Amino acid sequence: MVHLSTIKTDAEQSSSIGELLRLSLADENTPNDSYTSSVYGSRYALEALPTNEMPEEEMPKDIAYRLIRDDLSLDGNPMLNLASFVTTYMEDEAERLMVEGLSKNFIDYEEYPQSAEIQNRCVNMIGKLFHAPTDDESNHSIGTSTVGSSEAIMLATLAMKKKWSNERKAAGKPFDKPNLVMNAAVQVCWEKAARYFDVEERYVYCTADRYVIDPAEAVDLVDENTIGICAILGTTYTGEYEDVKAINDLLVEKGLDTPIHVDAASGGFVAPFVKPELEWDFRLPRVVSINVSGHKYGLVYPGVGWIVWRSPEYLPKELVFNINYLGADQASFTLNFSKGASQVIGQYYQLIRLGKRGYTKIMTNLTTIADYFSMILEKRLGFIVMSKGNGDGLPLVAFRLDPARDRHYDEFAIAHHLRERGWIIPAYTMAPHSERLKLMRIVIREDFTKPRCDILLLDIKHAVDALDAMEPKDIEKHAELVQRTVTNHGRRRNRNHHYKGETHSLAKHGKSQAIC
Ligand SMILES: Cc1ncc(COP(=O)(O)O)c(C=O)c1O
Repeated sequence: MVHLSTIKTDAEQSSSIGELLRLSLADENTPNDSYTSSVYGSRYALEALPTNEMPEEEMPKDIAYRLIRDDLSLDGNPMLNLASFVTTYMEDEAERLMVEGLSKNFIDYEEYPQSAEIQNRCVNMIGKLFHAPTDDESNHSIGTSTVGSSEAIMLATLAMKKKWSNERKAAGKPFDKPNLVMNAAVQVCWEKAARYFDVEERYVYCTADRYVIDPAEAVDLVDENTIGICAILGTTYTGEYEDVKAINDLLVEKGLDTPIHVDAASGGFVAPFVKPELEWDFRLPRVVSINVSGHKYGLVYPGVGWIVWRSPEYLPKELVFNINYLGADQASFTLNFSKGASQVIGQYYQLIRLGKRGYTKIMTNLTTIADYFSMILEKRLGFIVMSKGNGDGLPLVAFRLDPARDRHYDEFAIAHHLRERGWIIPAYTMAPHSERLKLMRIVIREDFTKPRCDILLLDIKHAVDALDAMEPKDIEKHAELVQRTVTNHGRRRNRNHHYKGETHSLAKHGKSQAIC
């Protein structure tokens, strides 16, 4: 997610600490030969990095590279970031192809026809993986690449809304109050889509022991203004698959033709390989569109998602632009125009390099590791595991402390302790109406092998032992200190004070968004 940045005011720039940090330690004796001195022997090592104003002069490229690289070394280590679904490992050959594609603008189909052809191949492969119908010559399934699942979900919402409003207009009925039915545990992009495109969000709430949508409740919320139901294949909180088939069957039973969009951001590249018999995709007649993130279990670095529609019937013409780009007509449905071609190329590499067997091996390994991790957490370390094992959900482990054990610390304290070892493992409060349960979540990704899993299990044990031995007041003090001085959030308080305390998101119900 891109964060809103504020431009510093004059007063902020001239604050005493700000002024001090901008001071140069170089003086007239500091050599100024950028070309012969080493990076750390140059005057740049004594100067502050420009932060607010573009510098007046150039700097040598090796120095710019090194200084920015050093600056970025304060970022977390992606391999230890078990908070994120997003791919942190690709083979060297994939990286090389992606670097070679960096200068290609993907939208420029005429100049880079082969990159466009590669997208077509990926859409075909992914569509078929989701059982897109292929038996009707005049009614092709269609799809496109996006920047991620969020853009795909925006496009899906627009398509559902437009189709619904066209039908209402044709029937002479009002079309000013569209609504979308979804679990309150949806990822924030659904809240954004509803708000940006003026659609009412109709929530099915989780309970203390149900973290997925209740199909009957969802279908009961449907009325003539419902543009669709969202079902999640692998919720962001616990990874559990929502029962798309039950929603589909209830709609069919009631004679409702409400479309289902499946948010398969993570599960779309897991379920087909680990649970091929699970019916959640275009095999179900009410499923009209599906999104998946190529950069999650699609195994590509961040910046690629996919969306597939069952047929053009579900993607109204008015939304598609035929762009005459450098003399050639191209149908386009995206929120953004230009983007790099590398991510689509990286996806194609993974699809043909691994094939179905390769993806199956990786996803099966991850599922086995998640089950092992859950077993040790539950049986040896006394945690309650909230995620589903055995491939019935994503390969992630969501867990919490057992309240029966009456500890004097919570999941956030454990997360803080693990952070000191470098592990980035988040603690959250669950979606609204689930009694503000706290939980921790570990996403098992391709590069998380058993040896690393064992190190983490030992570190969790050590964290719990240390916290058990600590006084409650010390734990509180320590947590407060970490929050204030170590976390980025704490260190950069009030950055966007204009937007603090907004009241439209689910955060107003106490929902913390899980990291994706
Ligand atoms: C279920 C679900 N939907 C949508 C998204 C947003 O996906 P992206 O980060 O690809 O935009 C996420 C991210 O984790 C997710 O878990």
